[in-house]
Amino acid sequence: MASLTIRKLDDAVKTYLRLRSAKNHRSVEEEVRVILRELIEGREEPLTPFSAPPTPSATATPQRIGALPEASVTLIIGGGIAAYKSLDLIRRLKERRIEVRCVLTKAAQQFVTPLAVSALSHERVYTDLFDPQSEFDAGHIRLARECDLIVVAPATADLMAKMANGHADDLASAILLATNRKILLAPAMNPLMWNNAATRRNVTQLQRDGVVLIGPNSGEMAEAGEAGVGRMSEAIEIATAAERLLRPPMPKPLAGKRVLITAGPTHEPIDPVRYIANRSSGKQGFAIAAAAQAAGAEVILVSGPVDLGDPAGVTVKHVESARQMLEQVQAALPADIAIFAAAVADWRVANEGEQKLKKTAGSMPPLQLVENPDILATISRLADKRPPLVIGFAAETEHLIDNAKTKLARKGCDWIVANDVSPATGVMGGDRNTVHLISRKDGEIAVDSWPVMTKEQVAIELVAHIAKSATGKSLEPAS
Ligand code: CTP
Repeated sequence: MASLTIRKLDDAVKTYLRLRSAKNHRSVEEEVRVILRELIEGREEPLTPFSAPPTPSATATPQRIGALPEASVTLIIGGGIAAYKSLDLIRRLKERRIEVRCVLTKAAQQFVTPLAVSALSHERVYTDLFDPQSEFDAGHIRLARECDLIVVAPATADLMAKMANGHADDLASAILLATNRKILLAPAMNPLMWNNAATRRNVTQLQRDGVVLIGPNSGEMAEAGEAGVGRMSEAIEIATAAERLLRPPMPKPLAGKRVLITAGPTHEPIDPVRYIANRSSGKQGFAIAAAAQAAGAEVILVSGPVDLGDPAGVTVKHVESARQMLEQVQAALPADIAIFAAAVADWRVANEGEQKLKKTAGSMPPLQLVENPDILATISRLADKRPPLVIGFAAETEHLIDNAKTKLARKGCDWIVANDVSPATGVMGGDRNTVHLISRKDGEIAVDSWPVMTKEQVAIELVAHIAKSATGKSLEPAS
């Protein structure tokens, strides 16, 4: 198969590739592979990395909203007997959905082979600063920057000395000098080396430079009869430390709050095999449930029929019709916050057939529609169990803000998240949303317009506003 030389591509294509690969935390090579695969599968994206992503095909497996985001690590394996533990570390990182690209120092290759490392990481392994294959597009810079974190395990006394003094005479030290990413070191050396004044100085310097250390632990050394501080941390400890740096624990401003959410469409039966439905995918409501759960809330999600996996840690009640949805919502009260993101069918068939309706020559079945209960309005008007904060959605195709303001008054809720769902926006079933938060406080109505965002971002933003309003606390990690 012909190999591709990035340098020979047009500047516009190169820029596109670099932006797109950086955005997706992939190398340029990997991004090219993904693009080719998408082309072959007929899922070509428009030539801008920041436009709306393609809608998943109908046969795609259900998405898991609230799953861990992807992350990537450049793992530098230094030359020490502890290098064998790095093989396990690769597995531990990968099982946490962290992609790993490995660099082996010359000395590391005495302890583990590039073949073993490559087999475990499912990636090629980098060993040489002057490797023409990876340096054709400044490979050491990519390894230094196209990742979220650099882990050095084992970090030998020599590697740490090089780092502390800014040396760059091999691939590992060049990456460590060229990176603007956080660095996690797992030192491993003989206790005498660890306690040596030079190493102590280097450790202090590295910590001052913002490098994070895990271990070393104390215990027996590989050298017979020696023990002390110098053993590399176990793979699982290093993977946990890496994950904490990659995915810092979210603050839990909604801890102790009970949040009730509706999502998805409803199906209103016509007869045992037919129903009235709408195009809602449930993605927005599910994303809000995941974001509220991540913010520490106890979340009850009442969902109509959707093709999505249940968000982790959320109690999900699956329903079909509007009346079932209302029943489950009432059963879930009391709640501190209620968010009605479902696209509830306004009408149902009055005379639902007990048997499948048959075609009769020349006449249409007499479908009589009656109005469904308005769940949002019902809960907003409760005298006793009304949640202190009730939020509705307004799906509009015209006069967005005016219609949403009218809806806010008509439904009696506190906030309305208004979104334009006209077919051209691709919101219904799509992954992005442009919303306006309309709130009512002390008789005043405020409109806050947000830029176009993914549904996950809208969810996080909404939960941040809720946290601020309900508790005065922020979603931002404390710095
Ligand atoms: N809603 C509800 N129960 C219904 C209808 C709507 O709880 N029977 C909620 C939705 O979950 C949403 C809000 O009311 O939070 C507005 O829904 P929308 O479909 O935009 O408005 P409708 O009330 O259906 O009015 P219209 O279709 O005329 O725009």
